[in-house]
Amino acid sequence: MIYNFLGNTGLKVSNLSLGTMAFGRWIDEKESDRIIDAALDSGINVIDTANFYGKGQDEAFRYGTGASEEIIGRALQGRRDKIVLATKVGLPMGRGVNEQGLSKKHILKQAEDSLSRLKTDYIDLYQVHRFDENTPLEETLEALTTLVEQGKVRYIGCSNFAAWQIEKSRKISKLDRLVSFVSSQSQYNLLSREAEQELIPYCLSENVGLLVYSPLARGMLTGKYASGADYPAGSRAANGEKLIFQYINDDNFKRVAKYQEIAKRYEKKMPQFALSWILNQPAVTTAILGASKVQHVTDAAAISDWKWDTELIQEVNNI
Ligand SMILES: NC(=O)c1ccc[n+]([C@@H]2O[C@H](COP(=O)([O-])OP(=O)(O)OC[C@H]3O[C@@H](n4cnc5c(N)ncnc54)[C@H](OP(=O)(O)O)[C@@H]3O)[C@@H](O)[C@H]2O)c1
Repeated sequence: MIYNFLGNTGLKVSNLSLGTMAFGRWIDEKESDRIIDAALDSGINVIDTANFYGKGQDEAFRYGTGASEEIIGRALQGRRDKIVLATKVGLPMGRGVNEQGLSKKHILKQAEDSLSRLKTDYIDLYQVHRFDENTPLEETLEALTTLVEQGKVRYIGCSNFAAWQIEKSRKISKLDRLVSFVSSQSQYNLLSREAEQELIPYCLSENVGLLVYSPLARGMLTGKYASGADYPAGSRAANGEKLIFQYINDDNFKRVAKYQEIAKRYEKKMPQFALSWILNQPAVTTAILGASKVQHVTDAAAISDWKWDTELIQEVNNI
C-alpha cells in the first residue's frame, strides 16, 4: 500500500480509502464488518463516512440516519487510533429548518452526534459535505475552529466545493486566524473529468489534498453493466441508486469497452484499471473506493502501487 501526505499536513493516508456510503443502506452490518476488516488488513488506513450515510438517502425526502457511522463506531472499538477517520456534515439530518447546512448551531450539534455514533472522542478529518450559500463562510469556519480547539477534530476539509469556494474559505481562515481546509473531496473518474478544469490545478498549486469519490463511476467503470442487458442482481442500479444513472448511457458503454481492451492487455480487471488511472493522476491523495464486497477491497489493494508510464496515460487520454 502506498501512503501519501494529506495536502500540506504531516498526516499519512493510504492512496486507497474505504468509502462507506452504502453501509446500513444496502450493505448490512455483518458484511460491512467483513469489508472493514479486509480494508484494514490490506493497509488501507482511511475510512470515509458521513452523518448522512444510511437508509434515508433513498427516500423522496433525503435525510441522514447516521447508520453508517454507527456501524463503523462499533467495528473500530479497540483499533480506533490506527485509523484516519473522516466524516462529514451539512446534508439534511431531519426536516427541521436547522437540521442541515453549515450554521454554527448545526455543525456543533452534528459533531457531538457523530462522535457519539462513532464511539470516539475525536474525528481526524471533519469535512463540510457541500457549499452552503446561505451561511457566511466565517460562521462555518468559526464553528470548525471551535471543534479543533476543543480537541474533537484534528483537520478540516471540504467536499463538492468549486476551486474559488476553497480559495475564498482559505483566505478567510488566514485573515481571521481560523483553521483552514486541508483537503477537498470531489468526484473524479475516467468518465467524469470536470475536476481537471479548475479544481485539480488549484489543489496542485496550493497543495490541497484531493480525496476522490466515485472513482469507478459508481460501478459503471467495472464493466458489470452492458447495453440493453438487465442490471446484475445485487448491483447498485438494481438496488435503485439514482445517481448511477448519470453514467449509464451508450457513449459510456463505448468508452468502457475501449478501456476494457487496454485493461486486458495489462492483465488487470476493469475496476483495477480504472482505479489505477486515478491513482496515477498527480493531484490525487487517495481514491475512496465504494466496496460492497470483500473481493472489491482485495482487487483494489492489488494495484495500489501500479505506476503507469506516460505512453499508457496518453493512450487512455486519447479515448
Ligand atoms: N462527498 C460526496 O458528496 C460523496 C459522494 C459520493 C460518494 N462519496 C464517498 O465516496 C465513496 C465511494 O463512492 P462510490 O461508492 O460512488 O464509488 P465507486 O468506487 O465509484 O463505486 C463503487 C461500486 O463499484 C462496484 N465495485 C467496486 N469494486 C469492484 C470490483 N472490484 N469489482 C466489481 N465491482 C466493483 C460496486 O458496485 P456494486 O455494489 O453495484 O456491485 C461498488 O458499489 C462513498 O462510499 C463515499 O464514502 C462521497
